[in-house]
Amino acid sequence: TLTTTIGGRTFENCMMNAAGVRCQSDEDLTTIINSNAGAYVTKSATPQQRAGNPSPRMKTLPKGCINSMGLPNNGLDYYLNFVIADQQQRPDATNFLSIAGTSLADNLSMLHQIQDSAYEGFVELNLSCPNVPGHPQTGYDFEQVDTTLNQIFDFYTKPLGVKLPPYFDLVHFDQIAEVLNKYPLTFVTTINSIGNALVIDPQTERVAIKPKGGFGGIGGASVKPTALANVRGLALRLNPSIAIVGVGGILSGEDVFEHILCGASMVQIGTQFGYEGVNLFDRLSKELDDIMALKGYHSIEDFRGKLKTF
Ligand code: DHB
Repeated sequence: TLTTTIGGRTFENCMMNAAGVRCQSDEDLTTIINSNAGAYVTKSATPQQRAGNPSPRMKTLPKGCINSMGLPNNGLDYYLNFVIADQQQRPDATNFLSIAGTSLADNLSMLHQIQDSAYEGFVELNLSCPNVPGHPQTGYDFEQVDTTLNQIFDFYTKPLGVKLPPYFDLVHFDQIAEVLNKYPLTFVTTINSIGNALVIDPQTERVAIKPKGGFGGIGGASVKPTALANVRGLALRLNPSIAIVGVGGILSGEDVFEHILCGASMVQIGTQFGYEGVNLFDRLSKELDDIMALKGYHSIEDFRGKLKTF
């Protein structure tokens, strides 16, 4: 069984989509609801709808993809209405509402609106959107993360998690964990894309995407080692009450197995979900089931976080 638990909520499958990919419209989200995924997360919302950056703004690569979408989304009201209607239809299902204000004031106003609404599911606060020209991402400014969470938990009482960018220095793992451990977070989701990479075509001597002179976030197979390091690095440092949602480089059931070994309670799949659609969740579930059967594991708790070191 691939059941998992986060913040006292049970999910029948530990796999779901990652924010951003195939989750912008009502139709996208309904397709995930009708699949084998254990939950869905909505495209990161801003207070008002946004068209995003000019195209081409995403390019598939042999080992993943590069994107600089610029937060195209239908606005918070749209997603909040969707998740509340879904909650009325399926009161036992917990899902994830992603928000990504481009300022602290926007995040606070969206969270006030959610706090005052009937929504009882999870909110994934995106501190790591790298693709809005002129806006720094909060996740690399530890003091700003502290200020943000301090102001949020002044009034916000519903289950909240944060989506983090990848960190590349062990001291940074210590520093972000020290801040996050001060707050009653339900989960952290790690990693967002590896930001501001550059893909170029030597034939045409041009960049792969249009926004920001070609700079964009990398997802897919090539980010797996960075993702595993971040899942593991945070699992070793965060309060056990903060669950880890692992994202990055998942293409197979074996990749899911590795994320869980590093400490993930749930995993999200972005790039490969974009390529494969919801059949992905059937395939990965079967692949993970087969690995667990071979190893004699009956539940993901039998191996979660139990990575061996020398
Ligand atoms: C976008 C990209 C991200 O990595 C993110 O976290 C939010 C938004 C985007 O470009 O739309």
